[in-house]
Amino acid sequence: MTVYVPHDSAAKSVGANDVADALERAAAAAGQQIKLVRNGTRGMLWLEPLVEVATEGGRVGYGPVRADDVDELVRSGMLEGAGHDLYLGLVEELPWMRDQQRLCLARVGVTDPLSPDDYLGHGGLAGLQRALELDPADVIAEVTESGLRGRGGAGFPAGIKWKTVSETEGELKFVCCNADEGDGGTFADRMVMEGDPFCLLEGMAIAAYAVGAREGYIYLRSEYPDAATAIRAAIEIARDEGWLGDDVLGSGFSFDIHLRIGGGAYICGEETSMLDSLEGKRGMVRPKPPIPAITGLFGKPTVVNNVLTLASVPTILAQGGEAYAALGVERSRGTQVFQLAGNIARGGAFETAFGISLADLVHDYGGGTRSGRPVRAVQVGGPLGPYLPGSQLDLPTDYEAFDAADAMLGHGGIVVFDDTADMAAMARFAMEFCAEESCGKCTPCRVGSVRGVETIDKIINGEDTDGNLGLLNDLCDLMTAGSLCAMGGLTPNPVKSALSHFPEDFTQKREVHQ
Ligand code: NAI
Ligand code: SF4
Repeated sequence: MTVYVPHDSAAKSVGANDVADALERAAAAAGQQIKLVRNGTRGMLWLEPLVEVATEGGRVGYGPVRADDVDELVRSGMLEGAGHDLYLGLVEELPWMRDQQRLCLARVGVTDPLSPDDYLGHGGLAGLQRALELDPADVIAEVTESGLRGRGGAGFPAGIKWKTVSETEGELKFVCCNADEGDGGTFADRMVMEGDPFCLLEGMAIAAYAVGAREGYIYLRSEYPDAATAIRAAIEIARDEGWLGDDVLGSGFSFDIHLRIGGGAYICGEETSMLDSLEGKRGMVRPKPPIPAITGLFGKPTVVNNVLTLASVPTILAQGGEAYAALGVERSRGTQVFQLAGNIARGGAFETAFGISLADLVHDYGGGTRSGRPVRAVQVGGPLGPYLPGSQLDLPTDYEAFDAADAMLGHGGIVVFDDTADMAAMARFAMEFCAEESCGKCTPCRVGSVRGVETIDKIINGEDTDGNLGLLNDLCDLMTAGSLCAMGGLTPNPVKSALSHFPEDFTQKREVHQ
């Protein structure tokens, strides 16, 4: 019988390896032979470690399982899929799983991440095979038709970016995957890289074929050692299988991928700093224009896309751009992997078509706050995203609707705060984060963020409150208008949203009834 225990680092952080060891021991002691598969996570992180057992009716789950639970679980018939207090039923039928439209995450948690047979058996390579039968321009047309927009945060149409690279003259072109997932509360890139690394490689190969690149780089943050191990192994296997290399799938097209590990700077997630870092330099933001699509890595035309953007591409090619575009709303087409984090009862990754409201995600799927207290604020889009008050959660997840509400979708991270959160402290944190992570190239960000921390401190301490509030607003306007990149330019978002939605936190000590 086949038993699945996730190898994902979120699952391992709560004891999945111990559970896997205990299972092997308990099965051997009971004289039962098991095939243990270390899958990725299904994204239901509150249930990790989630053990699944393959039964005739489908995979049934048990969770969260501790190593101490395993002997009793095996005694009570878990290996045959029997009932137990930790029994969850058919995993695919759990509301969290059943209600999703998993395209990027289709195989994550389902397959053995490094098994080529599993990959092929679950639709892997269908996108690349179809792409290689098409003219590169038709591949770009398919991606354009799908409406796919950059999932790193800015939401720029991927097809237009690829077209720019393809139409720029140059013998040498690159595809770079931005895997420097630095936003607090985001982990979808990591989940894909650990749970279905071949999907990312396939997406990069399709992008390379479309634009005429022969070499690709994955720029991975150093904080993701498990993803690095998975990607390294996947590249080796893909080369052995002929999915990468001199003659990809016998097509005559050659493409190879290299992994590079970052040095721990948030700013290296900004595409031009990432390119500097890939070139072996200190990661500093380059002025744009020129855009990387024209002058990118080593000055050559370069596609820079986020992990989720590239991992969406195989499905688009396999099922057609039109099918992908049929999902979503307005100009936000396809699916987004939303990541629920912070003070949330059920944290995890939930992939669904754009348009679902924040309230549905936070309350229905996330179960509200973990503390059981009211939701006071939600930060969407990472540390540079504004704070939305709990009363604004009916907002649909749509790039333009978010824009109109002075919010941003970013990379799909949703961090929840309950009514004990001190929003003046959160505003201070935004400035402090910017001061810490600024690359230092431009003054509004480098100096402005330090002055921002000082000014917020004065406001909190009641020193010339009106004067300092005015100063803080001016400082925010200056940073927005004068910063070279999104780091300094967007830091005022959380600060100004905290000021406008939670002004009381800046001027008085709020009583919170526990
Ligand atoms: P941007 O709007 O300058 O550019 C978006 C992308 O489109 C870039 O790749 C750019 O090179 C490309 N582009 C722009 N015009 C083009 C054209 N005419 N042809 C081809 N390509 C073109 O935004 P930027 O500065 O790259 O990203 C800012 C966003 O990054 C923020 O909105 C934020 O959400 C996100 N972000 C994400 C983080 C993460 O961890 N994923 C961390 C920090 C910020
Ligand atoms: Fe560097 Fe900040 Fe200026 Fe961006 S805004 S270029 S991070 S100093």
